Parts: sequence; C-alpha cells; structure tokens
Amino acid sequence: MIIVLRTISELRAWRNALPPGSRLGLVPTMGALHAGHISLVDLARTHCDTVITSIFVNPLQFGPKEDLARYPRPIENDIAMLEAAGVDALFLPEYGEVYLPDNSTYVVEEAVSLPLCGALRPGHFRGVATVVLKLFNLTQPHFAFFGQKDAQQCAVIERMVRDLNVPVEIVRGAIVREEDGLAMSSRNVYLEPSQRALAPLLYQSLLAASQAYAAGERDAQKLEAIGRALLGDQPGIEVQYWEIRDRQSLAPIHTIGPDGCLIALAAYLGNTRLIDNLILGA
Ligand code: PAJ
Repeated sequence: MIIVLRTISELRAWRNALPPGSRLGLVPTMGALHAGHISLVDLARTHCDTVITSIFVNPLQFGPKEDLARYPRPIENDIAMLEAAGVDALFLPEYGEVYLPDNSTYVVEEAVSLPLCGALRPGHFRGVATVVLKLFNLTQPHFAFFGQKDAQQCAVIERMVRDLNVPVEIVRGAIVREEDGLAMSSRNVYLEPSQRALAPLLYQSLLAASQAYAAGERDAQKLEAIGRALLGDQPGIEVQYWEIRDRQSLAPIHTIGPDGCLIALAAYLGNTRLIDNLILGA
C-alpha cells in the first residue's frame, strides 16, 4: 500500500523510520504520470530497497506565459499508477509546504543551463535546480532517477550534484516513446488530433540525422540540415532549436568525435512546446 505524505514532518518521520541500511531511491515528478515516469520507478526498484516519488507542479520553473495554470493534475489516477508500480511512498506537498512566503534562496547553475531551453525559458533551470535540491534535502535519497527525455535537466542536476557535493547518485533512464516514436510527455494531451499526427516527425528528424551519422557523416552542420529539412516544410511545426551538442557540457560541436554527441530539439506545435533528443555514437 502506497503511503501518501503531504507534509515535511510526515516525510521526515517516514524517512527516519526506514531501516538504516535500506537504499532509498527518489523519482521526482510533476504528476500527470505516463509510462515514461513509470519506467523511472521500475529503474529505481532495480537499484533500491525503497522508492519514493514526489508529485509537485513547481511554479518556480514555469515562466509567466507558460502552462502552469493548465498543467494537467489527474492526482487520483497518478496515485493508482504509482501504487500499481510498487512505489512505497508519495510526497505530495502543497505549494506552501515547499516554499515559505519569504523564500529568498535559489540554486543557479551557470554553464550547462545557459543554452537550448535555458536560453528560451529564463529562470526555468533555476526553478528546477532549486526544487530538486530541496527534494534531495527533504528526502535524503541514495539515488535519484531522471529521464533522458529532459537531457539538459539531467546535465544541470548532475552538475549541481557535482559542484555542491550533494550525496545523491543520479541515474538516467532512457526515453520512453509512443509506438509512432513520439516521446511520451505530460504535455502531449494538449495536442489536437492534427498536431498529434504531425508530432512523430520530431523523432523522425532525429532518426534521419542518425541514419546519416551511421552512414559516416560527422559534420554537425550537415546533420543539422538533414534533420531540419524534415521539419522545415511543415506549416504546423515551428522549430525553436535543433542542435548538435556535447553530451555533458552541451557545448556546440562542429565535427562529431569518438564521444558522439547529443542532438536536442524543441518545437512548437500550435501552443504546445515539445522537446526530444537522441544520442549519437558511444
Ligand atoms: P516531469 O516532467 O513530470 O518529469 C519527471 C521525470 O520523468 C523527469 O526526470 C523526466 O525526464 C522523466 N520523463 C518524462 N517523460 C519521459 C519519457 N518519455 N521517458 C523517460 N522519462 C521521462 O521533469 C520534471 O517533471 C520536473 O522538472 C522535476 C524534475 C520533477 C522538477 O520539478
């Protein structure tokens, strides 16, 4: 039976009652759970004795014009999914439990959070890093699990953990996709049928570049042109970025070397912003 913890004091009491040697895994989420989230729970269960998930739609990581108010919150269904997946506890705090009215301390990573989504969503990774460090401090997990779907988020959190000596081991889980290749996302429910029909093109653009890479192409600009060509003619898709970057530092790459690379993209389909990525090589 899953235990739902709504306050910090309930969380602390639960945490303190765990057996001393028990390895605790945390899967932080914003809810509206799908198979991508559950894959992280499954991964956590292979690493840990006890698994806790958090659901908190963190206002600090949403921009003023973003979808905070309409972000889906199907909490009963989420709890049922976590229960079925064998999660031991759910941390489900209200806003006021997480942020005091005069909260004035934030975590700001100043390198890997700057390009890509960081450049387009000012303050987003500050909000993510701050809430994730708070969740780490509250939960004190041995392991925490994050999806490769949000590759830049993984890079920011790994950098924060390294730079601030946070005693948590970060584990990345692979991207879970729909049958037609669209990366699962809580935001896919926003897509109208015509947009949903176009959405698999995002992954196809990554695959097109991957095929050229497999055939020997190492010039990032050429791969970028191949990927973008698939999306460029689509009136319903507005590409924000489609870029080839170093997997860890997210620095631009001109010629792909032995370490491979990350291709990362963000695009609007109507008002819905989707991201996806693919690792090439290594
Ligand atoms: P959320 O978007 O709910 O995602 C929670 C976790 O699920 C993240 O680590 C994300 O990368 C992972 N995830 C989402 N879609 C996935 C997919 N298709 N395959 C694999 N993993 C997937 O990311 C956040 O919440 C927030 O920023 C958070 C880290 C909770 C901080 O507020």
